Amino acid sequence: MKILNTVAALREWRASVPGGKTIGLVPTMGALHLGHASLLDASERENDLTIATIFVNPTQFNQSTDFEKYPKTFESDLAMCEKYGADVVFSPSSADEMYPDHFLYRVSEHQLSNELCGEFRPGHFEGVLTVVLKLLNLAKADHAYFGEKDHQQLSLISGMARAFFLETKIIPCPTVREASGLAMSSRNLRLSPADKEIAPGLYRVISDFIDPLQARSELERLGFRVEYLVDREESGAIRRSVAAWLGEVRLIDNVRI
Ligand code: PAF
Repeated sequence: MKILNTVAALREWRASVPGGKTIGLVPTMGALHLGHASLLDASERENDLTIATIFVNPTQFNQSTDFEKYPKTFESDLAMCEKYGADVVFSPSSADEMYPDHFLYRVSEHQLSNELCGEFRPGHFEGVLTVVLKLLNLAKADHAYFGEKDHQQLSLISGMARAFFLETKIIPCPTVREASGLAMSSRNLRLSPADKEIAPGLYRVISDFIDPLQARSELERLGFRVEYLVDREESGAIRRSVAAWLGEVRLIDNVRI
Protein backbone atom coordinates (compact mmCIF):
# COMPACT_ATOMS: atom_id res chain seq x y z
CA MET A 1 0.00 0.00 0.00
CA LYS A 2 1.40 3.38 -1.02
CA ILE A 3 1.00 6.42 1.25
CA LEU A 4 0.98 9.69 -0.70
CA ASN A 5 1.04 13.11 0.94
CA THR A 6 1.03 15.52 -1.96
CA VAL A 7 -1.27 16.32 -4.84
CA ALA A 8 1.71 15.96 -7.19
CA ALA A 9 2.43 12.42 -5.93
CA LEU A 10 -1.22 11.39 -6.29
CA ARG A 11 -1.32 12.79 -9.83
CA GLU A 12 1.86 10.93 -10.72
CA TRP A 13 0.48 7.66 -9.34
CA ARG A 14 -2.83 8.18 -11.14
CA ALA A 15 -1.06 8.82 -14.45
CA SER A 16 0.83 5.52 -14.01
CA VAL A 17 -2.38 3.43 -13.75
CA PRO A 18 -2.86 1.55 -17.01
CA GLY A 19 -6.05 2.42 -18.94
CA GLY A 20 -8.74 -0.19 -18.44
CA LYS A 21 -8.05 -0.61 -14.70
CA THR A 22 -11.01 0.55 -12.64
CA ILE A 23 -10.53 2.74 -9.58
CA GLY A 24 -12.67 3.13 -6.46
CA LEU A 25 -12.35 6.18 -4.20
CA VAL A 26 -13.16 6.11 -0.47
CA PRO A 27 -12.91 9.64 0.97
CA THR A 28 -12.62 9.78 4.77
CA MET A 29 -11.56 12.09 7.57
CA GLY A 30 -9.80 9.23 9.38
CA ALA A 31 -10.76 7.77 12.77
CA LEU A 32 -11.82 4.79 10.70
CA HIS A 33 -14.37 2.28 11.99
CA LEU A 34 -16.29 -0.66 10.54
CA GLY A 35 -18.54 1.73 8.59
CA HIS A 36 -15.47 2.86 6.64
CA ALA A 37 -14.35 -0.76 6.36
CA SER A 38 -17.60 -1.55 4.54
CA LEU A 39 -16.87 1.26 2.03
CA LEU A 40 -13.34 -0.05 1.47
CA ASP A 41 -14.71 -3.55 1.13
CA ALA A 42 -17.25 -2.49 -1.50
CA SER A 43 -14.57 -0.61 -3.43
CA GLU A 44 -12.20 -3.56 -3.28
CA ARG A 45 -14.90 -5.90 -4.63
CA GLU A 46 -16.02 -3.60 -7.44
CA ASN A 47 -12.73 -2.12 -8.70
CA ASP A 48 -9.20 -3.14 -9.63
CA LEU A 49 -7.65 -0.47 -7.39
CA THR A 50 -8.82 1.49 -4.33
CA ILE A 51 -7.71 4.92 -3.19
CA ALA A 52 -8.60 5.81 0.41
CA THR A 53 -8.18 9.42 1.46
CA ILE A 54 -7.58 10.61 5.00
CA PHE A 55 -7.97 14.36 5.43
CA VAL A 56 -9.66 16.18 8.29
CA ASN A 57 -11.09 18.88 6.07
CA PRO A 58 -10.99 22.19 7.98
CA THR A 59 -13.47 23.99 5.71
CA GLN A 60 -16.38 21.77 6.71
CA PHE A 61 -16.15 22.52 10.45
CA ASN A 62 -18.21 25.49 11.49
CA GLN A 63 -16.74 25.38 15.01
CA SER A 64 -12.97 25.41 15.52
CA THR A 65 -13.30 23.35 18.74
CA ASP A 66 -15.06 20.58 16.82
CA PHE A 67 -12.20 20.58 14.28
CA GLU A 68 -9.55 20.49 17.01
CA LYS A 69 -11.30 17.70 18.91
CA TYR A 70 -11.96 15.55 15.85
CA PRO A 71 -10.42 12.15 16.70
CA LYS A 72 -7.08 11.45 15.03
CA THR A 73 -5.95 7.81 14.86
CA PHE A 74 -3.63 7.82 11.84
CA GLU A 75 -1.62 4.66 12.58
CA SER A 76 -4.68 2.45 13.14
CA ASP A 77 -6.36 4.10 10.10
CA LEU A 78 -3.46 2.96 7.92
CA ALA A 79 -3.71 -0.56 9.33
CA MET A 80 -7.42 -0.63 8.51
CA CYS A 81 -6.85 0.67 4.96
CA GLU A 82 -4.27 -2.05 4.44
CA LYS A 83 -6.50 -4.75 5.92
CA TYR A 84 -9.46 -3.79 3.73
CA GLY A 85 -7.49 -3.70 0.51
CA ALA A 86 -6.62 -0.04 -0.20
CA ASP A 87 -3.82 0.25 -2.77
CA VAL A 88 -3.15 3.93 -2.07
CA VAL A 89 -3.79 6.18 0.92
CA PHE A 90 -3.83 9.86 0.04
CA SER A 91 -3.26 11.88 3.18
CA PRO A 92 -2.46 15.50 2.28
CA SER A 93 0.37 16.83 4.41
CA SER A 94 -1.40 20.16 5.13
CA ALA A 95 -4.57 22.11 4.43
CA ASP A 96 -2.60 24.25 1.94
CA GLU A 97 -1.94 21.13 -0.11
CA MET A 98 -5.70 20.84 -0.75
CA TYR A 99 -6.42 24.57 -0.67
CA PRO A 100 -3.66 26.37 -2.60
CA ASP A 101 -6.39 28.97 -3.31
CA HIS A 102 -7.10 29.34 0.47
CA PHE A 103 -10.71 28.33 -0.17
CA LEU A 104 -11.38 31.29 -2.48
CA TYR A 105 -13.06 28.91 -4.91
CA ARG A 106 -15.98 26.94 -3.49
CA VAL A 107 -18.82 24.70 -4.57
CA SER A 108 -22.20 25.82 -3.23
CA GLU A 109 -25.62 24.32 -3.43
CA HIS A 110 -28.44 26.68 -2.61
CA GLN A 111 -31.35 24.61 -1.38
CA LEU A 112 -30.83 21.31 0.48
CA SER A 113 -27.51 22.48 1.91
CA ASN A 114 -29.33 25.14 3.97
CA GLU A 115 -31.72 22.63 5.54
CA LEU A 116 -31.38 19.95 8.27
CA CYS A 117 -27.65 19.82 9.23
CA GLY A 118 -26.98 22.83 6.99
CA GLU A 119 -29.34 25.02 9.04
CA PHE A 120 -27.33 24.30 12.19
CA ARG A 121 -23.86 24.08 10.61
CA PRO A 122 -23.64 27.09 8.25
CA GLY A 123 -21.09 26.55 5.49
CA HIS A 124 -20.62 22.87 6.35
CA PHE A 125 -21.79 21.48 3.01
CA GLU A 126 -19.86 24.10 1.04
CA GLY A 127 -16.71 22.70 2.65
CA VAL A 128 -17.79 19.10 2.02
CA LEU A 129 -18.72 19.63 -1.64
CA THR A 130 -15.56 21.62 -2.35
CA VAL A 131 -13.19 19.02 -0.90
CA VAL A 132 -15.06 16.12 -2.48
CA LEU A 133 -14.93 17.76 -5.91
CA LYS A 134 -11.17 18.26 -5.50
CA LEU A 135 -10.73 14.59 -4.50
CA LEU A 136 -12.90 13.37 -7.38
CA ASN A 137 -10.91 15.47 -9.85
CA LEU A 138 -7.59 14.15 -8.55
CA ALA A 139 -8.60 10.48 -8.30
CA LYS A 140 -10.51 10.33 -11.58
CA ALA A 141 -12.15 7.23 -10.10
CA ASP A 142 -14.84 5.10 -11.69
CA HIS A 143 -16.73 4.82 -8.40
CA ALA A 144 -16.74 6.79 -5.14
CA TYR A 145 -18.25 5.34 -1.95
CA PHE A 146 -20.22 7.24 0.70
CA GLY A 147 -22.22 6.02 3.70
CA GLU A 148 -25.98 6.47 4.00
CA LYS A 149 -25.57 7.53 7.62
CA ASP A 150 -24.67 10.95 6.23
CA HIS A 151 -27.73 10.89 4.01
CA GLN A 152 -27.90 14.62 3.34
CA GLN A 153 -24.20 14.65 2.42
CA LEU A 154 -24.76 11.70 0.09
CA SER A 155 -27.72 13.45 -1.63
CA LEU A 156 -25.70 16.63 -2.11
CA ILE A 157 -22.64 14.81 -3.48
CA SER A 158 -24.84 12.80 -5.87
CA GLY A 159 -26.54 16.04 -6.95
CA MET A 160 -23.16 17.73 -7.50
CA ALA A 161 -21.95 14.78 -9.61
CA ARG A 162 -25.06 15.10 -11.80
CA ALA A 163 -24.94 18.90 -11.99
CA PHE A 164 -21.28 19.03 -13.06
CA PHE A 165 -21.45 15.98 -15.37
CA LEU A 166 -18.78 14.21 -13.32
CA GLU A 167 -17.59 10.88 -14.69
CA THR A 168 -17.38 9.16 -11.28
CA LYS A 169 -20.42 7.13 -10.20
CA ILE A 170 -21.42 7.87 -6.60
CA ILE A 171 -22.20 4.64 -4.73
CA PRO A 172 -24.34 4.76 -1.57
CA CYS A 173 -23.44 2.20 1.11
CA PRO A 174 -25.77 1.12 3.96
CA THR A 175 -25.22 2.44 7.47
CA VAL A 176 -23.22 0.04 9.63
CA ARG A 177 -24.48 -0.25 13.21
CA GLU A 178 -23.08 -1.57 16.45
CA ALA A 179 -24.97 -4.52 17.98
CA SER A 180 -26.84 -1.93 20.10
CA GLY A 181 -28.16 -0.22 16.94
CA LEU A 182 -25.93 2.84 17.33
CA ALA A 183 -24.75 4.00 13.89
CA MET A 184 -20.97 3.76 13.63
CA SER A 185 -19.36 7.19 13.61
CA SER A 186 -15.93 8.59 14.31
CA ARG A 187 -17.61 10.90 16.83
CA ASN A 188 -18.69 7.91 18.97
CA LEU A 189 -15.09 7.80 20.21
CA ARG A 190 -15.77 11.06 22.06
CA LEU A 191 -18.83 9.78 23.98
CA SER A 192 -18.37 9.41 27.73
CA PRO A 193 -19.02 5.88 29.10
CA ALA A 194 -22.39 7.07 30.48
CA ASP A 195 -23.42 8.66 27.17
CA LYS A 196 -22.35 5.55 25.26
CA GLU A 197 -25.10 3.72 27.21
CA ILE A 198 -27.71 6.30 26.20
CA ALA A 199 -26.59 6.74 22.56
CA PRO A 200 -28.27 3.59 21.10
CA GLY A 201 -31.60 5.17 22.13
CA LEU A 202 -31.29 7.49 19.12
CA TYR A 203 -31.81 4.73 16.56
CA ARG A 204 -34.33 2.85 18.73
CA VAL A 205 -36.54 5.89 19.22
CA ILE A 206 -36.50 7.13 15.60
CA SER A 207 -37.33 3.60 14.43
CA ASP A 208 -40.02 2.80 17.01
CA PHE A 209 -42.04 6.00 17.45
CA ILE A 210 -44.56 6.83 14.74
CA ASP A 211 -45.24 10.42 15.79
CA PRO A 212 -42.16 12.65 15.32
CA LEU A 213 -43.17 14.92 18.21
CA GLN A 214 -43.40 11.96 20.58
CA ALA A 215 -40.05 10.68 19.27
CA ARG A 216 -38.49 14.04 20.05
CA SER A 217 -39.93 14.14 23.58
CA GLU A 218 -38.71 10.61 24.24
CA LEU A 219 -35.18 11.50 23.08
CA GLU A 220 -35.19 14.52 25.36
CA ARG A 221 -36.42 12.38 28.25
CA LEU A 222 -33.45 10.04 27.63
CA GLY A 223 -31.01 12.99 27.86
CA PHE A 224 -30.49 14.02 24.21
CA ARG A 225 -30.62 17.69 23.17
CA VAL A 226 -32.46 17.37 19.86
CA GLU A 227 -31.38 19.77 17.10
CA TYR A 228 -33.87 18.52 14.53
CA LEU A 229 -36.04 15.48 13.94
CA VAL A 230 -37.72 15.69 10.55
CA ASP A 231 -39.83 13.31 8.44
CA ARG A 232 -39.64 13.89 4.68
CA GLU A 233 -41.12 12.13 1.72
CA GLU A 234 -38.51 10.45 -0.47
CA SER A 235 -39.25 8.21 -3.45
CA GLY A 236 -42.60 7.05 -2.11
CA ALA A 237 -41.40 6.43 1.47
CA ILE A 238 -40.68 8.61 4.48
CA ARG A 239 -37.13 9.25 5.59
CA ARG A 240 -36.76 10.38 9.18
CA SER A 241 -33.53 12.29 9.91
CA VAL A 242 -32.28 13.37 13.30
CA ALA A 243 -29.40 15.31 14.82
CA ALA A 244 -29.06 15.33 18.59
CA TRP A 245 -26.38 16.13 21.15
CA LEU A 246 -25.18 14.00 24.03
CA GLY A 247 -22.88 16.15 26.12
CA GLU A 248 -20.46 17.75 23.65
CA VAL A 249 -20.99 15.15 20.96
CA ARG A 250 -23.37 15.67 18.05
CA LEU A 251 -24.86 12.48 16.62
CA ILE A 252 -26.85 12.09 13.42
CA ASP A 253 -28.88 9.20 12.08
CA ASN A 254 -31.69 8.50 9.64
CA VAL A 255 -34.13 5.70 8.80
CA ARG A 256 -36.73 4.99 6.14
CA ILE A 257 -40.07 4.50 7.90
O1 PAF B 1 -18.03 11.99 5.48
C1 PAF B 1 -16.87 12.42 5.66
O2 PAF B 1 -16.05 11.81 6.35
C2 PAF B 1 -16.47 13.74 5.04
O3 PAF B 1 -17.52 14.64 5.04
C3 PAF B 1 -15.86 13.60 3.64
C4 PAF B 1 -16.89 13.07 2.64
C5 PAF B 1 -14.66 12.66 3.68
C6 PAF B 1 -15.39 14.96 3.13
O4 PAF B 1 -14.42 15.52 3.96
